[in-house]
Amino acid sequence: MARGMGDAGMSRKTPLYASNPTEGERFRLLVEAVTDCAIFMLDPSGIVTSWNPGARRIKGYKASEIIGRNFANFYQEADRKAEVPQRALATAAREGKFEAEGWRVRKDGTRFWAFVIIDAIRDEEGSLVGFAKITRDLTERRKAEEELRRSEELFRRLVEGVTDYAIYMLDPSGIVSNWNTGAQRIKGYQPAEIVGQHFSRFYTEDDRARGEPARSLAIAEREGRFETEAWRQRKDGTRFWANVVIDAVRDPSGRLLGFAKITRDITERREAQVALERTREALLHSQKIEAIGKLTGGVAHDFNNLLTVVLGSLDLLRRYLSNDDPRILRLLDNAMQGAQRGATLTQRMLAFARRQELDPQSVDLVALTRGMRDLLQRSLGPHIAIELRFPLALDNVLADPQQLETALLNLAVNARDAMPSGGVLTIAAHGETTTGDANLPAGRYVRLALTDTGEGMDEATLSRATEPFFTTKGTGKGTGLGLSMVHGMAEQLGGRFALHSKVAEGTTAELWLPVAGQLAAASAPDAPKATRVKQRPLTILAVDDDALVLANTRAMLEDLGHTVLVALSGEQAIEKLEHARAVDLVITDHAMPKMTGTDLAKVVVARRPGTPIILATGYAELPAGADAGLPRLAKPYRQEDLVDAIASAIGTGQE
Ligand SMILES: Nc1ncnc2c1ncn2[C@@H]1O[C@H](COP(=O)(O)OP(=O)(O)OP(=O)(O)O)[C@@H](O)[C@H]1O
Ligand SMILES: [Mg+2]
Repeated sequence: MARGMGDAGMSRKTPLYASNPTEGERFRLLVEAVTDCAIFMLDPSGIVTSWNPGARRIKGYKASEIIGRNFANFYQEADRKAEVPQRALATAAREGKFEAEGWRVRKDGTRFWAFVIIDAIRDEEGSLVGFAKITRDLTERRKAEEELRRSEELFRRLVEGVTDYAIYMLDPSGIVSNWNTGAQRIKGYQPAEIVGQHFSRFYTEDDRARGEPARSLAIAEREGRFETEAWRQRKDGTRFWANVVIDAVRDPSGRLLGFAKITRDITERREAQVALERTREALLHSQKIEAIGKLTGGVAHDFNNLLTVVLGSLDLLRRYLSNDDPRILRLLDNAMQGAQRGATLTQRMLAFARRQELDPQSVDLVALTRGMRDLLQRSLGPHIAIELRFPLALDNVLADPQQLETALLNLAVNARDAMPSGGVLTIAAHGETTTGDANLPAGRYVRLALTDTGEGMDEATLSRATEPFFTTKGTGKGTGLGLSMVHGMAEQLGGRFALHSKVAEGTTAELWLPVAGQLAAASAPDAPKATRVKQRPLTILAVDDDALVLANTRAMLEDLGHTVLVALSGEQAIEKLEHARAVDLVITDHAMPKMTGTDLAKVVVARRPGTPIILATGYAELPAGADAGLPRLAKPYRQEDLVDAIASAIGTGQE
């Protein structure tokens, strides 16, 4: 084409090869009309012989200024010195054509990026008559290209320099085609090791077997993007939790070029999340236990009151019944035993709710356990051997011996139930000193461990075993309160209860009890039981917010020959006191709305100093010392308990 233009168009001054002038004229007009390209002719030595408007526009010379001068003027100084113009002509002369891109200079000295074609023109004999030269100004295009290249380079550097993200490309089949620093850091491969390999090697074996790599590419191809969080594998085989994004990359026509893949190592974030989750679960669990504890304590409290009524009434009934019909007596005994069992149950519930009356004292664990041995053996049956393992010397612990016995019995019975075809129950104790943690303050403890060779517990059972009412023993068989009681008691004593168990490997129940201070192991001799001798008739003010309990207490007291004033609240009691002629004794419930029993006691002491007061409580709701040393009566109580309490409250109180 260039040849064609050269042949025909440049013929204004040196009309060569122009057999048809009309046609030649047409070409001249065409060339004259072109303003985008500089089109001009050179003679064989490089002198400009023609000039079109395009040439004028691009290079800045008028025809008159340039025709007759050498085209080397358009070249930069350095190029001229290096004889680039001459060589271009030589090439065109030798090969017919010369093509190049390079800097050229305008008349005003500014540069432009030129695309240049030089065609040699020969006559019919083949001798060189000159050159046709076409020059285009590509400065704009070159600028745009350069900018693109620069931004691509910047982008490449940016991607390569990112260290927190693995960023790399896959071809449509999943072959890795490049690799950045982040990928190197996160996955452990050098670029040379991995470029050209299939990306499925980053997946775990399981994921590969499931076809995950292909699936994720298919989704990215179909939907444009695939995102997931999953385990990925490093070169050294270790795993990390990855956030992965795969984007399909397409050309403007929509053809899939490959995929851009961004992977982030979020193992730490995941671990933090998992830890948070666990803490939240633990918190929920403890909140649940707390709530159940409140509920249980509340239920047990009311229940205790009812049992006081039942037991008290049965007691009276039995005494009024001067009937020796053995059937009636047996029924009465049954009823009393049932009520007693109910009382034991409420004790357990109160223990779990950490609201039982504890009488902590210094206890010799070894002696206590040895003393229980026969009882334990009877409870466990002949197929279970009991082994006691105690060190030669062991500190005394701070505990309520009666409750501790109940706890040991509960644990032993659990061990028995776990060993239906026999086994061994080992009871061992060790002194321990702890530096303290969230569960147990620093200090000295005795760890009492009961280990059985039974069926053990799975994790789910183990985690719920101390929950109140949790039992695997079926309705009617277990109350699910055994371990709850032990747990509550241990906590109330400032110790801890822990369970260790594995299915088929047995269970160890550990009771950590604080070592008793310098407290003398004063096993105070039991105060002589007040015998049922008739007491001096007294005027007694009985106070309880529960009308039923109050009626029952009144009945028991009247039965003993006392005169009874009753009040349903502290306020009422004060009013009664104001108007009563004489009151020898006040028996008051503690837990009452508005004015508690201890509040009332203070008023009584102020208004009628010296009046003995008995505080009836169902549970340890009193902070230590808050009872002001008042004699206590534990609910549920029977008539004989009342007699004892009255006796100790008013001295011997007996005639
Ligand atoms: N030594 C043990 N071996 C295996 N499982 C045990 C053991 N101790 C307790 N468990 C499990 O823990 C559950 C709760 O025990 P917990 O003593 O609180 O109630 P329980 O024994 O079911 O009822 P209760 O004590 O009122 O008879 C049991 O039902 C049992 O599943
Ligand atoms: Mg039990």
